[in-house]
Amino acid sequence: MNYRHAFHAGNHADVLKHAVLLLCLDSMLRKAAPISVLDTHAGRGLYDLSGEEAQRSPEWLAGAAKVFDWDAPPPALATYHRALRSLNRDQLGQYPGSPWLAAQALRPGDSLSLCEKQPQECAALRRVRLPDGALLRQRADIHERDGYEALRALLPLPHARALILIDPPYEQEDECARAALALRGALQRMRQGVFIWWRPLKHAALVDGADAELNAETAFPALRLDLTVRSNALPGLGASSLLIINPPFALRETAPALLSGLCARLGQDPWAKWSVTPLAS
Ligand SMILES: C[S@@+](CC[C@H](N)C(=O)[O-])C[C@H]1O[C@@H](n2cnc3c(N)ncnc32)[C@H](O)[C@@H]1O
Repeated sequence: MNYRHAFHAGNHADVLKHAVLLLCLDSMLRKAAPISVLDTHAGRGLYDLSGEEAQRSPEWLAGAAKVFDWDAPPPALATYHRALRSLNRDQLGQYPGSPWLAAQALRPGDSLSLCEKQPQECAALRRVRLPDGALLRQRADIHERDGYEALRALLPLPHARALILIDPPYEQEDECARAALALRGALQRMRQGVFIWWRPLKHAALVDGADAELNAETAFPALRLDLTVRSNALPGLGASSLLIINPPFALRETAPALLSGLCARLGQDPWAKWSVTPLAS
């Protein structure tokens, strides 16, 4: 396990993932009934953008920094933009990971479980503070454990209205297949849950195959969101994809505005493109 998210924090893929996470939470939090959130691959929760890792090849400059500097972002990005601004004053110096974003959005009575397998990353996660000064660990159950195993052990979550983020590092060649298998099992345990599964689009055929198989086997309503910011022939990650199973209705409505806005703002060359694809209904 060598992956450190600090090298990539705030890049275009994080922007897409975190904006969608907040849109889903916004929608779910409109109802009074409590919700549960599980983040299977949580990372360290908060990233210092002046640190050595984030400075080595500062991917966030072409991602979150562009949203942070946006004076009038589209309404679909308003919650994400507000979260970045609430953490930073004039300049983007810290980047919030998914645990921080979820924790600051949730209400008393909601539940948050975070899994991180890498001991140092998990220790850092336990030290994260929230905007009101509370420690993240006072608001969340933090587990130093395997996120796939947690999907079997922790589901069903305490509240029936639930969001599950699956955001692996894809260090292993078979990680896409492993995540798809874990997701299929998790769907059996929490059929009504909103699942957000993040995938790099390096080898699109792999992701297409996983989606087709999932769709054929489960036929759950799902929405696939793809964002390409530059040609895949260039080094580094140029495109990413989210599969959202049981997507909140509001996300179906706002996704095209979100994706087109991000593509216009973050696109780097003529290969920049976006798509919103319903997989079943
Ligand atoms: C892409 S990062 C997560 C980023 C985070 N979800 C966010 O959006 O801010 C993936 C994380 O998963 C951790 N990890 C790797 N394998 C894992 C496993 N089997 N279970 C749980 N965490 C794992 C890595 O240490 C890394 O911190």
